[in-house]
Amino acid sequence: MKYLVTGAAGFIGSHIAQRLLDRGDKVIGIDCFLDYYPRALKEYRLKSLLKYNKLEFIEGNLLKADLSKILKDVDFVIHEAAQPGVRTGWNSDFEGYSRNNIEATQRLLNMSRDTGIRKFIFASSSSVYGNAEEMPTTENASTKPLSPYGVTKLACEHLCNVYYKSFGVPVIILRHFTVFGPKPRPDMAHTIFSRAILTGREIQIYGDGEQSRGFTYVSDIVDATMSAIEKDIKGEIFNIGGGVTATVKEIIEILEKIIGKKAITRHVPALKGEARHTYPDISKAAEMLDYHPKVGLEEGLIEVVKSVKDFYGI
Ligand SMILES: NC(=O)c1ccc[n+]([C@@H]2O[C@H](COP(=O)([O-])OP(=O)(O)OC[C@H]3O[C@@H](n4cnc5c(N)ncnc54)[C@H](O)[C@@H]3O)[C@@H](O)[C@H]2O)c1
Repeated sequence: MKYLVTGAAGFIGSHIAQRLLDRGDKVIGIDCFLDYYPRALKEYRLKSLLKYNKLEFIEGNLLKADLSKILKDVDFVIHEAAQPGVRTGWNSDFEGYSRNNIEATQRLLNMSRDTGIRKFIFASSSSVYGNAEEMPTTENASTKPLSPYGVTKLACEHLCNVYYKSFGVPVIILRHFTVFGPKPRPDMAHTIFSRAILTGREIQIYGDGEQSRGFTYVSDIVDATMSAIEKDIKGEIFNIGGGVTATVKEIIEILEKIIGKKAITRHVPALKGEARHTYPDISKAAEMLDYHPKVGLEEGLIEVVKSVKDFYGI
């Protein structure tokens, strides 16, 4: 089997590629090294992937790459590439969200439609819900994103749906809820908090710190992705969460315990674009994907801290 993993040098894409390579599959990875955060971290993730001779890595942009050539003989597309982040995208930087999320996804779907691909997995986000009307939130809740990022991820979901309905592209949409794990994105709160506590720097808490997230360990996301590929289903949307929620304050407390140091904190005004709480109902994924998250918050954060120490040399 041959897999195309987009965003393969990114946080989640690199973990998915690693799992596939570990089990002996052929992987084409593509990434354009967006400068949203330093390339060095993406190179660091890639270093462990490039040891496998079954990886063909392409430094390229989905907006320009010769996708018909790349998709030739590919069985499964796992589309993780995106411009992430709910805090930016309000100004002219929206162009990056529009191009790397909406346009890149449309191009990939369009080029996939006349190939023999057996599944197209799209990495969506809890951000499509905004402040969800129900907690826990099912896939049927209304989608009212609060951030430009969420708007573009929702637009991508609609594109997946129209390419499925009109051309039979076998899509599955996985709505990821706050993903954490080794080699994390530097802009994620748990990475920022870990680095700050380790180095004795101040943490800015936006708002009252009581906002909460459903956290998902990255290997659980990989399990859900593998299952979505293997099961005989298409045209479905699934929440992929870790079965555990925590507030910003609780995350800081767990990190203090793991690191063995008190955090220095200061409250600053809340930011626009962020939901107050996210809390997924994962019963659909449990039933149809046999998805059962395995890694808890504290054990996962221990791995985050180890990885942050290793990469940043702390
Ligand atoms: N990390 C989370 O908590 C989280 C939560 C919800 C959804 N998601 C989704 O999961 C996916 C992976 O997120 P991540 O956290 O690994 O982000 P990431 O930024 O670490 O990885 C995305 C990668 O895609 C690459 N990329 C972006 N545009 C591209 C393009 N046009 N052509 C080629 N490569 C391109 C980037 O260079 C980057 O390396 C994204 O689709 C994101 O929206 C992530």
